[in-house]
Parts: sequence; C-alpha cells; structure tokens
Amino acid sequence: MKLAVVGGGSTYTPELADGFARLHATLPVDELVLVDPDTDRLERVGGLARRILARQGHPGRVTWTSDLDAGTDGADAVLLQLRVGGQGAREQDETWPLECGCVGQETTGAGGLAKALRTVPVVLDIAERVRRRNPQAWIVDFTNPVGIVTRALLAAGHRAVGLCNVAIGFQRKFAGLLGVAPEDVTLEHVGLNHLTWERAVRIGGRDVLPRLLAEHGGTIAADLRLPRALLDRLGVVPSYYLRYFYRHDEVVEELRGGPSRAAQVAEMERRLLAMYADPGLDEKPELLASRGGAFYSEAAVALTASLLRDTGDVHVVNTFNRGTLPFLPDDAVIEVPAAVGAEGARPLPVRPLEPLYAGLVAAVTAYEHLALEAALKGGRGRVFEALLAHPLIGQYAQAERLTDALLAHNREHLAWA
Ligand code: G6P
Ligand code: MN
Repeated sequence: MKLAVVGGGSTYTPELADGFARLHATLPVDELVLVDPDTDRLERVGGLARRILARQGHPGRVTWTSDLDAGTDGADAVLLQLRVGGQGAREQDETWPLECGCVGQETTGAGGLAKALRTVPVVLDIAERVRRRNPQAWIVDFTNPVGIVTRALLAAGHRAVGLCNVAIGFQRKFAGLLGVAPEDVTLEHVGLNHLTWERAVRIGGRDVLPRLLAEHGGTIAADLRLPRALLDRLGVVPSYYLRYFYRHDEVVEELRGGPSRAAQVAEMERRLLAMYADPGLDEKPELLASRGGAFYSEAAVALTASLLRDTGDVHVVNTFNRGTLPFLPDDAVIEVPAAVGAEGARPLPVRPLEPLYAGLVAAVTAYEHLALEAALKGGRGRVFEALLAHPLIGQYAQAERLTDALLAHNREHLAWA
C-alpha cells in the first residue's frame, strides 16, 4: 500500500508519521511519500518521519520528493495538507478583515474566502494530475477551508473525502471526561466544516450529553471559550469555531489586541524545524501538541483504512449532502457521520436540524457556493457576492471594503486578479 502526502513538508507531518507507526495493524503502509516544493523542509521532516517509523519497528519506507507526478505515481491514497502562501498568507487573512470590524480567521469569514480563492485552483490542479496517473486513488483532503475545497473536488468528479479533527477531538475529550475508551463514544455531529454542533454523545446507544454538560459543562465551555450558560441553554456542544459567530464582536476586539495565530504558529514552526534537524530525535516533540491539529493522524489513518480496506466503518467526514439535510442542495458539502467503504462516504440519516442551527447552516452553505464560484471563475463581483452573503459580513459597505482588501493582499496568488 502506497500513500502520498502532498504538503508533506508540513511541520504537522511527524504527527501523521506517528499515527502510521502506531496504527500499522489498521493501515499497513508499505511506502509513505512526502511531496512538497520546499526541499529543505522535506529533508528535515522526512528524516524525522523515517526515524519515527523505524523506532516503532514499522517496516514501511519513507521517501520524499518535490516532483508531484513521481511522488503520487501508483499511490492508493493521496492526503492533501497544503497551505498556499504559507503562514505569511495566513497572517494576512487574520489581519486585514479586522480593519473592517470583521473577524480575521484562516477559515471563517473574509480570511477564509481569501484562503479558498488561493487554494481551490491549486488543489484541483493537483487532483487532476493525480487522477490522470491513478484513476482509482482516493483523495483525503485536510486542506482548509475543507468544506469548500471538498466541494470543489467532488464537483469535479474526484474520488475525495474531506476530513477535520474537530469531531475526533471532541470524542477523545468527552471519553476522557467520562472515563471511557474513545471508541465507546459516538457523536451526533452535524453541520458544515468548522460550523458544527454535537447534539448527542452516545455510549452504548444511550445519550449521555445531558450528564456530560451537567458534570463537565464548565470545563467544556472554558476549552471552547464560550459561556457555560450558552451551552446549558442550547443543550448541545458547538465547535470552537462557533465562537466566531456567537461572540463575534468580542473576538474581533481580542484579536485586534494580540499577535495573530499565524505569527504564533510561525514561531512554533521555527522551533519545530530546528528540533526536526536533530538526528537523535525519533519521536514527535511535545511542542507539536500545541498546534490545533491534535488527533488528525488518528482520524486520517482510520478513514484511509476504511476507504482502502472497505470496512464500512462510520467516520465524521465532509461529503455531498445528497438529501441528508433536506433544506440544502444535494451538492452542498456537509460534515456528518458517514459509513465509509471502497465506494466512498455515505452519510447516515440525520434528525431534522433545529431552526436555531439550520438558518446559519443554510446561510453559510450559500456563501460556500458563491465562494466556490469565485474561486473557479474569478472576478471582483463574485468575491463581493460571496462576502455579502456571509452571515458575519452581510453589509454593503463592509463587503465592498473587504473585497478591495482581499484582492490587494492576494493578487500574487490569484491568476485572474
Ligand atoms: C484545527 C482545525 C484545523 C486547523 C487547525 C489550526 O485542527 O480543525 O482545520 O488547521 O486547528 O491549528 P493551528 O495550530 O495551525 O492554529
Ligand atoms: Mn479543521
């Protein structure tokens, strides 16, 4: 079994290598190829990934290359985890929207649109090249914004599934709080990528969410940086990203006052890359746990195993709606539990979504449709429309200013601008 990771020079890759090493029985990888344009990073990250597998007695080979076609040739699955423009572009996405009083975030709001516009054409080009050589290969997309990128891939007919670590993070967190094994916890997770709610937490078929909130609501709320009273009122657990909606103005104030997340991450990356260069290091460093991507390797291994070994197991993934949420178009991409096998992801039925959440989901779905139109076809007017449709923007004057700022900061990445 051959796996390729595009964006393999990411500082996150040792996390992935650690997952492959620990979970060899679930996913017996013979060859792991890291593909990245940055050869210096590849050497450091690849070297450590190789040592991590070796330390754990994993028999697979780790190689790396800057040649996308050679690296993905013969791959059974290709994981996409790239970031067009690096942390520098992310820093911009997190900064200029603040000047209009809007949240500056890498996936939510105007910054997320900028990221989508930069990323969709690059990902589609990679996917096309992968498909030409390996028509049967599965694409597992971690590249943000996952909802829009997955929609682009699926609309172009690719064999793709979008993945995020929010659900597995909650599963692990709740299992810890309840003192049970993670595999015993199933979530009723519903929404769009980075716009989800946990409506039930089941152990052996019983919903323990009311007990979880009663006993641990304070801890959960503090983690999410949302008021406990809100969680108690809703009786559900919103994802961390709902903070940008439910506390938008407060978050804008807070972001204006501090260093951007991109700047913090860039500093962490400098330290991580220095550590990775040490030939004595053969495990993922503790510092990596300070990144947001905790458990993504476990989610990736489990999902890829289901796709390649046709297990039919249930995973929370991003895939076409196809009537699951009847108020959304069939080609919207939603994030829900789905049975995953050799033919891809099939969402499980979902209870009707309450108006309290459905309105937001519908609005953001419309935004994602318009964002994809803008990413595929370009044009100032399409960027403006996507921004105007976004529920965190919605005003003419802001949408105009944000359109100009987005274009000014992203011209070098947008072929049409
Ligand atoms: C979470 C999200 C990812 C996102 C990451 C950011 O894991 O699910 O989609 O990329 O956080 O983490 P960072 O450490 O880069 O801020
Ligand atoms: Mn995510």
